[in-house]
Amino acid sequence: MLVLGIETTCDETAAAVIERAPDGSGTIRSNIVRSQVDEHARFGGVVPEIAARAHVDLLDGIIDRAMKDAGVGFAELSGVAAAAGPGLIGGVIVGLTTAKAIAMVHNTPLVAVNHLEAHALTPRLTDKLEFPYCLFLASGGHTQIVAVVGVGQYVRLGTTVDDAIGEAFDKVAKMLGLPYPGGPKVEQAALSGDAARFSLPRPMLGRPDANFSLSGLKTAVRNEASRIVPLEPQDISDLCAGFQAAVLESTADRLSVGLKLFREQFGAPHALVAAGGVAANQAIRGALQDVADKAQTELIMPPPALCTDNGAMIAWAGAERLALGLTDTMEAQPRARWLLDANATAPAGYGNTRAGY
Ligand code: KG4
Ligand code: ZN
Repeated sequence: MLVLGIETTCDETAAAVIERAPDGSGTIRSNIVRSQVDEHARFGGVVPEIAARAHVDLLDGIIDRAMKDAGVGFAELSGVAAAAGPGLIGGVIVGLTTAKAIAMVHNTPLVAVNHLEAHALTPRLTDKLEFPYCLFLASGGHTQIVAVVGVGQYVRLGTTVDDAIGEAFDKVAKMLGLPYPGGPKVEQAALSGDAARFSLPRPMLGRPDANFSLSGLKTAVRNEASRIVPLEPQDISDLCAGFQAAVLESTADRLSVGLKLFREQFGAPHALVAAGGVAANQAIRGALQDVADKAQTELIMPPPALCTDNGAMIAWAGAERLALGLTDTMEAQPRARWLLDANATAPAGYGNTRAGY
């Protein structure tokens, strides 16, 4: 089965061709990602209108390269998949409409993929992982612990009640004057910092639910920073190290609870899987290994290039759905919001339910 996948939900324009064998194993035939970081950098974040226009400019060329690199013609495709959400709606419309056009012209099945489902299924492409497993998804837009029970079967065990982890990294970077995207810059600065210099909160530590909260920690960093203006490079490094250490401790605690909830409902997971841009952080990778060891489960981390947004994950999710006969019609709608777990509700007892659920 050969599937073309298209990803345009945020600031990466991406297309890929994957091959799925009858035994369920997958091969990436091509994977082209064009980051729009340069287009957005001077605004300090992703500007939706600029992203949508850039997708329009870039996407056909990226698809052309993905098809050529794979050595595949449109007539050979078993299906075309596009991320139909959740994400910035202008970009989603560009990707989904392009996929519909290709499907229509070449009389090929269309699969409208949930971007989060694509992150969730990626370890089955890289590691042939069996269901059920526990997913920790941490990106700029989402922070969730999800029980992946089967294709299309997801149960959310935890979520953030305010900022996503990547979003908090980006905001801390911005307040410390580090360039966008901030996550990798904070990680780098933290390497030469003293994590113990500032006393920062460990959000949600010890709570019986598996939810996250980042905004209080972010505010605490801002308060410390405002006391020592002007910031010297060492101050920035110390603040980054302190922030990252607090995120690690909180994340490890939240994930231990998430894995406990998983066991209660689904038995032992086949693995703990981390995905999303934040999983590219080496310190977080180390912390997750400890969590997995303590919970006596395997840790699987797709390579960083498959953790951040890419077309291969969309193509793979499309192939998994196609293999089950799950296709979509030309009526498929682009969606700004799209819950992975349709039954998930806003976490009880929190005022702010904006992000991540
Ligand atoms: O999954 P992704 O590429 O895009 C979406 O948000 O969907 O994730 C990007 C996010 C950004 O917030 C970025 O700052 C964060 O992941 N990130 C990191 C690191 N690399 C990327 N956060 C912490 N440490 C990193 N090394
Ligand atoms: Zn993503």
